[in-house]
Amino acid sequence: MTKSNLLKSHPLNSPFAKAPIVRLQGQPVLLFTQQHSSLLQALEAKKVRIFSECRSGFCGACKTRIISGSVSYLTEPLAELNADECLPCCCIPSEDLELDLSPEGAAVVTYSCGNRRAQTPSTRKTGNLKAVPQQEVVED
Ligand code: FES
Repeated sequence: MTKSNLLKSHPLNSPFAKAPIVRLQGQPVLLFTQQHSSLLQALEAKKVRIFSECRSGFCGACKTRIISGSVSYLTEPLAELNADECLPCCCIPSEDLELDLSPEGAAVVTYSCGNRRAQTPSTRKTGNLKAVPQQEVVED
């Protein structure tokens, strides 16, 4: 099965499936959607620092520990893996996923609360403790 066929036939591509949330050490960093071609590409798009070389499941350079959740492989990984590890260059999340990667420098998805925009996601940068200012809510 080709990579694009696997992506099309993946259960998460059902119109009723929930896009998996990818967390790094507890911090929600991204919602994995059909826009992403692999977990590595999605993490790099969010400025997550992750080492890679072959980008095809051969070298093991991108090997990452899974804290919770599971992945599906786009191509058979050739690098040796433990049961709690994945190769982000050639897999996609099968469900919500938490990885043992530092969220430092990545845009983390947060939710403001205590106002009418409680469900409006915003982002903040981690690592420098400077929060991106959230919009003020003006009461009528
Ligand atoms: S970069 Fe080589 S296995 Fe992922």
